[in-house]
Amino acid sequence: MSDRWYEKAVIYCLDIDTYADSDGDGVGDIKGLIGRLDYLARLGVTCIWLNPIHPTPNRDDGYDVEDFYNVDPRFGTLGDFAELLHQARDLGIRVIIDLVVNHTSDQHPWFRSARSSPDSPYRDWYVWSDSAPPDRRQGMVFPGEQAETWSYDRTAKKWFYHRFYDFQPDLNIKNPEVRAEIRKICSFWLQLGVSGFRMDAVPFIVEETEAGRPDSPKDMEFISELRQHVQWRRGDAVLLAEANVEPDQLKEYFGDAGGTANRIHMLFDFMLNGRLMLALARGNPEGIIDALHDTPKLPAGGQWATFLRNHDEVDLSRLTAEQRNEVFEQFGPDENMRLYGRGIRRRLAPMLGGDRRRIELAYALQFSLRGTPVLRYGEEIGMGEDLSQDGRNAIRTPMQWSLLPNGGFSSAKPGDLVRPVISGGEYGYERVNATTQRHDPASLLSWFERMIRTLREAPEVGSGSCTHVDVPAPAGVLVHRADDVTGTMLFLHNLSDTDGVVDLGSLRPEAEFPNDVLADREYEEPGKLDKLAIAGYGYRWIRLRRRA
Ligand code: NOJ
Repeated sequence: MSDRWYEKAVIYCLDIDTYADSDGDGVGDIKGLIGRLDYLARLGVTCIWLNPIHPTPNRDDGYDVEDFYNVDPRFGTLGDFAELLHQARDLGIRVIIDLVVNHTSDQHPWFRSARSSPDSPYRDWYVWSDSAPPDRRQGMVFPGEQAETWSYDRTAKKWFYHRFYDFQPDLNIKNPEVRAEIRKICSFWLQLGVSGFRMDAVPFIVEETEAGRPDSPKDMEFISELRQHVQWRRGDAVLLAEANVEPDQLKEYFGDAGGTANRIHMLFDFMLNGRLMLALARGNPEGIIDALHDTPKLPAGGQWATFLRNHDEVDLSRLTAEQRNEVFEQFGPDENMRLYGRGIRRRLAPMLGGDRRRIELAYALQFSLRGTPVLRYGEEIGMGEDLSQDGRNAIRTPMQWSLLPNGGFSSAKPGDLVRPVISGGEYGYERVNATTQRHDPASLLSWFERMIRTLREAPEVGSGSCTHVDVPAPAGVLVHRADDVTGTMLFLHNLSDTDGVVDLGSLRPEAEFPNDVLADREYEEPGKLDKLAIAGYGYRWIRLRRRA
């Protein structure tokens, strides 16, 4: 059995500032999070991924870092952070943090120094051009919010490169000092006890940008070096990368040294994410089946990270225009729900019309597919979005803990909160909150607890193979299986609202004592597997066999 922890992990992503406020100043903090670790332990998550924790002018939710060696004073101190790591570890929970080193904030002392003088020791830490780059209106990540990728700096009297917003100047990866500094940042946090990093914007980190050359070469060796360094400093540390690139490039990110991944351990599966959304919108699993067939074989130690929602918009850019429109029509019918022409700024529960059957189905499906599941905070209780907030802030509202004022997130005056808590209506904290659900065995939260516990008893899902079982099945039904030396799990998920029956009698010889370990309802015993009923939007996780 694999002893790589990240293959069997359940990752929970949260933003400290909207999670739990312990001191009543309206901003979530580390002590608040420490107070909620028992909740996370009960939920069954084994790793927390923290969105950026560093001091920041906060113009991009912390993805504009001002000091890589500290925590945002609004969140607490480094001492609090060390305490968090200790307390989490005691409960069997690891912590990974965002590593945002493609760029810094323009308020970072390095950039301030760099722009101030040609003699600054930091001048060459950023990417400059003397003249207006002809390609400066190409490659924007935030169309509509960002007009160009090169901006003129009046102090430096030069153009500087910024793949993202103009207050996020890109670091110059070609500079060995920058590389050494990035290694040092990793060492620092590993030394404090984090278990690894969610690496932001990796395709842009490796870009050796040159003005007038929009297809600049990429230096993947930087990732190999960083991997070696990180692994040397802490043997079990992982890199989990955001690299939303063409499928044929993904292999480059994992790297391959004689069959073993030697760059990134885990990559978010953006391709699968888009296809999951399409499949849910259509009520038909074909896109997922294609994804399972197309998935390149990963080198040993390479792993996918699956997700339905994250802290950004649902990114549909990997779908065709026609497919994207189908998803828009179903899940983002109003213009106000869409973003950057490619995405949807909503949470999953409202996208699925608040239909409990569909929410369970969607998450049961995600968690049963190959890879390590990543869950965004608040999804476990079915939180909604606040479309009155700008852009991606719609899905970054405070966690809804209880019926207390501000949903129990903070004791501050509502006007002093980092962002308003969703109140009133179907998704307000009065109806959707963790405490009420905790006391209700039939709640979505209780379901998540059961589902996650069940997954943790099925290590073949994270560590083993995942294959589509190609048998005649009703149009909405996906049948797949997970296998490794520990055993075999069989999965049925019905994406349509029509009941069906599947004949899986051909698998009978492999089944020792087939039994439902998780299902949307009580079904008849699987028996000979030849008449497996599956309700509309239903799911069945069946253990076929178990090995010592
Ligand atoms: C990707 C992050 O997920 C997003 O939230 C951020 O705005 C950009 N990278 C820039 O750091």
